[in-house]
Amino acid sequence: MSPSAASDRREGLVRVIHSDYKQRVKDFWQGRAEVYDANNTFHPPLCTHLVRVADLHKGSNVLDIATGTGHAAFAAADAVGPTGHVLGIDITESMLQQAKARAAGTGKSNVEFQLGDAETITLPDQIFDFILCSNGMAYLQDIPAALKRFHGWLKPGGKLCFNNPLAPMMPLTETLITLCIEKFGVAPEDAAVVLGTEDNIRAALTSAGFRHIQVTGTEEVKVSPNTMPAQFAENMFRMMERFPAAPLSQLLTHQQIEELRSDYMAVAVPQAEALPQQDGGIVNQYVMLWAVATA
Ligand SMILES: C[S@@+](CC[C@H](N)C(=O)[O-])C[C@H]1O[C@@H](n2cnc3c(N)ncnc32)[C@H](O)[C@@H]1O
Repeated sequence: MSPSAASDRREGLVRVIHSDYKQRVKDFWQGRAEVYDANNTFHPPLCTHLVRVADLHKGSNVLDIATGTGHAAFAAADAVGPTGHVLGIDITESMLQQAKARAAGTGKSNVEFQLGDAETITLPDQIFDFILCSNGMAYLQDIPAALKRFHGWLKPGGKLCFNNPLAPMMPLTETLITLCIEKFGVAPEDAAVVLGTEDNIRAALTSAGFRHIQVTGTEEVKVSPNTMPAQFAENMFRMMERFPAAPLSQLLTHQQIEELRSDYMAVAVPQAEALPQQDGGIVNQYVMLWAVATA
């Protein structure tokens, strides 16, 4: 299917980036590393699909950015074979430890992992045939600058391949943002919006020097098992409250957050009740965008 353009940007939306942003990102993922792979039916299939979309060649040199526990890196290592090589980098040590443990367990010699921030790490120019980033672009602080760095690391003709959900990915996030702007005149921007439309992706990649840009979309579902509508609505709120790019706590006082929460729950719970349910949980349907561009 062909992706369509999503929501307009509205006045009042801000992306708050503080000097401790990177630490917030690390803290956010540090706390999730232990459980990341437990019953994770969401990220691994997206990584596998990204590797398929990238159409890697045997013998290729691949960089996997924001590799996490290494799902895309291991799939890429299988695709490039023993004559190829995959480097996975991630900013969060505990996520990378899981990847390293898995690499040691499988005995694969064509994949390695390195701790590093994709926005500051030094890598040689023009050494990669492919750069992958699955479920990671939205965490980058300065996406236009990062895309230029990735362009510089690719050999001429090399490919950058990433995914990003069509914004908004979660209907309840829009509810929260709309209410927040109505009440307080300001709301955190959903970080996934920067690359959240086909037009945004094309413009960002073109500015960074990429060509032959292809963007496709797939319909996806994210199931939150064993979650009743009220819990689902609450989880969405707590997620937005903590999300590193623009947590509500950076914009509103504690009292304002509690007021917002109460107004939000009144609207969001009926909305969550109207969402499809499966296995005692809520099913969120969304579109994932897949970008492939040539350096
Ligand atoms: C949703 S996880 C994705 C992990 C993996 N790609 C997957 O799909 O399973 C996001 C990852 O991005 C990493 N990350 C965030 N900002 C980063 C940065 N600036 N440089 C490298 N990794 C980063 C986090 O540490 C986290 O492991």
